[in-house]
Amino acid sequence: MKIPSKIGVLTSGGDAPGMNAAIRAVVRACTYHNVECVGVYRGLQGLIEADFKELNARSVKNIINRGGTFLKSARSKDFMTFEGRTKAFNNLQNENIDALVVIGGDGTFAGASVFIKEFNFPIVGLPGTIDNDINGTDYTIGYDTALNTVVEAIDKIRDTANSHNRLFLVEVMGRDAGDIALNAGIGAGAEEILIPEQNMGRERLLESLSRSKKSGKTSSIVVVSEGDQIGKNIFGLAKYIEENLKEYEVRVTVLGHIQRGGAPSCYDRVLASRLGVGAIDALLNGETNVMIGIVHNKVTLVPFSEAIKGSNEIDEDLIRVADIISI
Ligand code: F6P
Repeated sequence: MKIPSKIGVLTSGGDAPGMNAAIRAVVRACTYHNVECVGVYRGLQGLIEADFKELNARSVKNIINRGGTFLKSARSKDFMTFEGRTKAFNNLQNENIDALVVIGGDGTFAGASVFIKEFNFPIVGLPGTIDNDINGTDYTIGYDTALNTVVEAIDKIRDTANSHNRLFLVEVMGRDAGDIALNAGIGAGAEEILIPEQNMGRERLLESLSRSKKSGKTSSIVVVSEGDQIGKNIFGLAKYIEENLKEYEVRVTVLGHIQRGGAPSCYDRVLASRLGVGAIDALLNGETNVMIGIVHNKVTLVPFSEAIKGSNEIDEDLIRVADIISI
């Protein structure tokens, strides 16, 4: 493989806090190694529309602390077609871009994998998603910030829940993964945590809530992952609880996209910086078709095929801890 002399960088899929810090690290690592860097706007769609802009070390000043992604993001339908990908390849050739760093989730990596196979074009990826649902990395960029946002929001909900002796169902993001729900649930002192990896069932939830009331709890927080089966209709769940446990007055809060915004935490900034530098190291070492992840606090290369295999197993120990401390 030719050593790249011009590298493109893009952010794709759902945005995540820390993406700007990752772009910054990629751009500055390019400058450090005397490699040209091009920003691609609006993710994979920007490749198809040749939405390119040359970036230098100063183009990425004052963004390490900013949420969102200044390159913008998109979920490109056109990139799913061979025609779209051919356009993307031609645009990369015309711009003399030799390699790409894509920052996103499993959908982004799956698209990148197909592109590499079809056009033999070098690409490495960085895991950028609040869901933490990528295989082969302990953490994804944006996850830690999202956890802190959720915990801060639930702390506020707890104040009002406690004042009114109410039960709150709080829905958090995580399309197929319960990582946000489980960790933020423990951090915020939730009564119960409903996650897609573990089907609790409505009956067991009722039993648990009933026990809590008897044990003297006056207010409760139940964290529900958006991907959980019994939580899929959170307002229906609230009604079901009120109908079956008359002692409960229930309210629902759907946290939604506030979880994707805000200044990245220090952890996410450092992670994004390490992985961004790792991405350029990898490309200059002739690597392609891999994600740069973090495992046991070491930067690690993982084939895209492994990364997209599905979410990490949920940590059984955390489930046990959540059960014990919510007694
Ligand atoms: O993948 C990140 C994520 O925020 C999921 O948690 C959520 O299900 C989804 O994206 C929402 O996507 P969109 O912003 O396109 O509605």
